[in-house]
Amino acid sequence: MTPVVSLRGAGLQFGQRALWKDLDVDIQAGEFFAVLGPNGSGKTSFLKVLLGLQRLHSGTVTVGGQPVERGSRKIGYIPQQKSFSSDIPLRARDLVALGVDGHRWGLRINAKAVNDRVDALLELVGASDYARVPLGQLSGGEQQRLRVAQALAAEPELLLCDEPLLSLDLRHQQAVSSLINQQCHERNSAVVFVTHEINPVIDYVDRVLYLAGGRFRVGTPQEVMTTEVLSELYNSNVEVIRANGRIVVVGLPDATTHYHDDAYAGVEEGH
Ligand SMILES: Nc1ncnc2c1ncn2[C@@H]1O[C@H](COP(=O)(O)OP(=O)(O)OP(=O)(O)O)[C@@H](O)[C@H]1O
Ligand SMILES: [Mg+2]
Repeated sequence: MTPVVSLRGAGLQFGQRALWKDLDVDIQAGEFFAVLGPNGSGKTSFLKVLLGLQRLHSGTVTVGGQPVERGSRKIGYIPQQKSFSSDIPLRARDLVALGVDGHRWGLRINAKAVNDRVDALLELVGASDYARVPLGQLSGGEQQRLRVAQALAAEPELLLCDEPLLSLDLRHQQAVSSLINQQCHERNSAVVFVTHEINPVIDYVDRVLYLAGGRFRVGTPQEVMTTEVLSELYNSNVEVIRANGRIVVVGLPDATTHYHDDAYAGVEEGH
């Protein structure tokens, strides 16, 4: 079976600084692939490579067995959070509708089917109540849920999510991660999920790519999220504690502080 994503000898470098190199990885349909690592380790850049927005410094990348192309309808993308400008002239449901029929812009063959699909997506992310509110008036978390609905709209073969749970309350974190998990494990999309927090998705994750200090490790959470592996990646004594099915990483170096425990989420640096 052709992997959805395939990287061979892939490296990314800005100036003298190598973010990662010699990366060989295949991501299969129906796989939930998490990307973890501190600020600036190259997680967003990894997604941009798959989107064709960032060229590799070395090696090759394919999506669906083909060279990457910008604007591919095979890919759904939830970008790292940015707010919509307050004067953007779109309502919540317009944004989701763009995901459903944006590629057939101007040619609304079946308006009813599009409307029904938009309604269903809005319902799934709990956005029905604010469907007709202008985007610029919505809170960060409300906007974020719409981006999730938009990215799921086209039933993408590959769903790229850049910290999609940021600024969502616990209930919506669970709803959104479960929705993304369904798209992955029931509808067979490959999911690449960038996150600082593995715990909200720990039950869904098949493999982890952990980036840190110009190095990386790929494997199951059991293989990667260990005291030995993370201490080696960070070149420092890090301890991984497992409790009640959760993973807590203790002693991360100051400059790369990030937490894997909700209890600390409030003190995490802003992005
Ligand atoms: N086009 C570019 N030119 C030069 N440097 C860049 C470019 N894009 C990203 N970088 C640098 O590469 C590093 C990785 O950026 P990236 O956005 O991938 O990090 P990240 O892992 O997503 O971090 P965060 O957790 O803060 O979102 C950063 O230091 C960034 O400044
Ligand atoms: Mg990022």
